[in-house]
Order: sequence, then structure tokens, then C-alpha cells
Amino acid sequence: MNDSTVAVIVVAAGSGTRLGHPEPKALVPLGDDTILGVALDAVLGMREAPFVVVVAPADRVDEVRERCATRAAEATVDLVVVAGGLTRQESVALGLAELPREIEVVLVHDAARPLAPSAVFDEVAAAVEARGHGIVPGLPVVDTVKRVDGEGHVLETVDRSELAAMQTPQGFPREVLESAYAAAGADFTDDAALVAAAGVPVDVVPGDARAFKVTVPSDLHRAEQLLAERRAAVAAAERSAPRALPAHSAPTRVGTGIDVHAFADAPDTPLWLAGLHWPGERGLSGHSDGDAVAHAICDALLAAAGLGDIGGMFGTDDPRFSGAHGEVFLAETVRRLREAGWRIGNVSVQVVGTRPKLAPRRTEAETLLTGIVGAPVSVAATTTDGLGFTGRGEGITAIATAVIFPAPGSA
Ligand code: CTP
Ligand code: MG
Repeated sequence: MNDSTVAVIVVAAGSGTRLGHPEPKALVPLGDDTILGVALDAVLGMREAPFVVVVAPADRVDEVRERCATRAAEATVDLVVVAGGLTRQESVALGLAELPREIEVVLVHDAARPLAPSAVFDEVAAAVEARGHGIVPGLPVVDTVKRVDGEGHVLETVDRSELAAMQTPQGFPREVLESAYAAAGADFTDDAALVAAAGVPVDVVPGDARAFKVTVPSDLHRAEQLLAERRAAVAAAERSAPRALPAHSAPTRVGTGIDVHAFADAPDTPLWLAGLHWPGERGLSGHSDGDAVAHAICDALLAAAGLGDIGGMFGTDDPRFSGAHGEVFLAETVRRLREAGWRIGNVSVQVVGTRPKLAPRRTEAETLLTGIVGAPVSVAATTTDGLGFTGRGEGITAIATAVIFPAPGSA
């Protein structure tokens, strides 16, 4: 579905012995979801959709696959679910085996850290791409740390300024992680240790307190509270947000329309232009009355509103519009804009041609068009110094610009 070069392996195959819940830890309820579901939301919230591997408890793979499929499809993310192993390290290795060829950066994340924000994933991925080595999010250690022997005697105080508590997601260039896993002799508690043991540099970037690991029941309680607070904050923000404008709208929109009509062959064809009849002037050819000014205004308005164009809206061959006057199209266009929640700011139209002389009837035309449009319409005219078809008097061009706004209160 996507062509991402970043993958996230979410390890969720642990049993959660210390949590003591009958369900494997990743499937323990959290809010109206599961720990894994909340963790997955953070992954799917990344700025650029990654390829996702979920490593599930071996006896729950089908169920997890089913739960994940809908979310992944909604987010248009490629996601695979595989069975995990007996240790975390084995589970990561099984996830690594699922990566498609194009993946260059791999993030490994504990499902047990469901509230790690999407931004941490983005930062870790970006740092791996920029620096080309391992990146782990870490938090400064705030408590005094002491080395203690097996009988509970303090041996020494450790300098905590040199310590950081590691979190996930941890990110690596793919080949670094793969070769470190291939070479790993011992069992490590995190991927950074495994990669560092392979001699590859690993940098720490700032972690996030919310990325804490759910290990014992009090952690689950804390996660429940944080999630409830987060959801309440989102709901409050939605309530207090200004009423949403249509997705396609902006505070102001502008549109341009151009129409060209040739003068009719028959000299007695009446001329209709800018909604007015021009006695004694040769008319324009066209399926309708050929009122280039009215048509250009329609196109400018429709374009500004994203409603297409006059041909698409009225059908150039539709017998109902045979010979129809420009104001029929204009009135209908204005109605459609109003229906879609738009208000017209103003329209400016310029006629390019040698005839008719517009100036004497400019005010008349502007008054008529302003009445139909329901907003100021200004009409200007120019010639082209004898150049082109307009200069030779073969036809007329009209160019219109329209400004529109969302009508107050439209949603
Ligand atoms: N994990 C895994 N496969 C394993 C063991 C652990 O995928 N064989 C995952 C867990 O699901 C968790 C992460 O590694 O998301 C961190 O492990 P931990 O917090 O220790 O989880 P559990 O091993 O499930 O918990 P416990 O150690 O209390 O049994
Ligand atoms: Mg464990």
C-alpha cells in the first residue's frame, strides 16, 4: 500500500508475568482498547506511514491479525502479524525476518509502552536517517542509584549524571540491526545493548515520560489514568474548536473563468452580452445565447467553490439550455454556491474585443449582473490593438475573477 523505507516492529509476544493478568500483557484491556491497540495507534499516527510488524503471542496470532487488519486498512498501512518466541530477543528476530526488501530503517518498540507519543517515533526515525547509527530514547535518572550486593549491602553510589533510563522505540539502520542479531551470542534486555555489543555506535535522544513500560499492576493503573486524561483533553478541544468549515474551504477563495464566442455568421443574430440585449449589434454563436461575460462569471464562481465548470454543470448539449440567456446560468450558479455554503465577495470581469462599445452601458451591465450575483460585479473592456481574433473582430473573450467566502455558520 505504501512505499515506506521505515519499519516498526512492535513486540507484543510476552506473557506479562509481573502484571499477573490472565491475558497476555499486550491483550490486556486499556481504556476501551487493549495495550497493543493503544500502542498501535501511536505507530499509525507517525508523520509518514511505516511498514508495521506486530509480533504476537504464538497462540493468539489469528486473533491479533484480525484486530489489527481494520486499523491498518483505515490508516492505509501495510501490517503483518507473526508469532513471537520465548524471549524478547527471539521475538524481535522473528519480526526482523518479515521485513520487505525496501526497508532501510527499523524501529523496535515494546507494545508494553502503549502511551509513547507518535512524535518520539518520528524523531527516532529521523535521527537514524540523519546519523546512520543506532538511536535510543532515554530519560535522565532522577533517583540516586546505588550498586547493591546480593545480600542487600550498599557497595557504592553510582554517578547518575552518566545514567539514562532507556525506552523504546529504538531505531537502527536495517543492516546494522540484522547483522547484530545474526551475531548475538547472549540474551540482551534491549536492542541498543545488542547493537552496542556488536560495536556499533548508539546515541541517546530525549525520551518521553509517557513512554513508560507497563510492568506491574500500578503501571496499568497509571496508563488508564493518562489515557482517560488524554481522551478528555481531545474531547474538550473538539468541543471548543470553532465550527469546522467544509474541508475544501479556506477563509477566502478565488476563481478564474474565461469564455470565448465567435460572432455568428447570420448578421441578424441578436447580441446578448453581460445579460443585456444590444440592438443593432451582430450576435455571438453558441448553443446558448453566447453571453461570454455571463459564462466567464459562472466559471470563475464555480472554480472558486471547487464545483467544476459550466460545461460540467449544465451540459453544453442539453436541449433545456438551447438559446438560454446568460442570466439563467448565472442565477443557477449562484444558487449552487449558496447551497454549498459559500458567499460571494465580488466579481470582476473584463471583455476583450472591438465591439460592442461597452463604456456607454457599463453601469447598466454592472447593475444587472450585481443584482443576479448578489455581490458587486464590475465590468471592464479592452481591445487588443488589432491583434488576434478579437482584434480582427471575429469574436469576443471574457475573463472573470471571483472571490468567495464560506457563509457564516456554514459547516
Ligand atoms: N516480549 C515479546 N516476546 C517475549 C517477551 C517479551 O515480544 N518472549 C515483548 C513484550 O510483549 C513487551 C516487550 O517485549 O511488549 C517488553 O517485555 P516485558 O515488559 O518484559 O513484557 P513481558 O515479558 O510480557 O512481561 P514479564 O517480563 O512481566 O513477563
Ligand atoms: Mg519480560
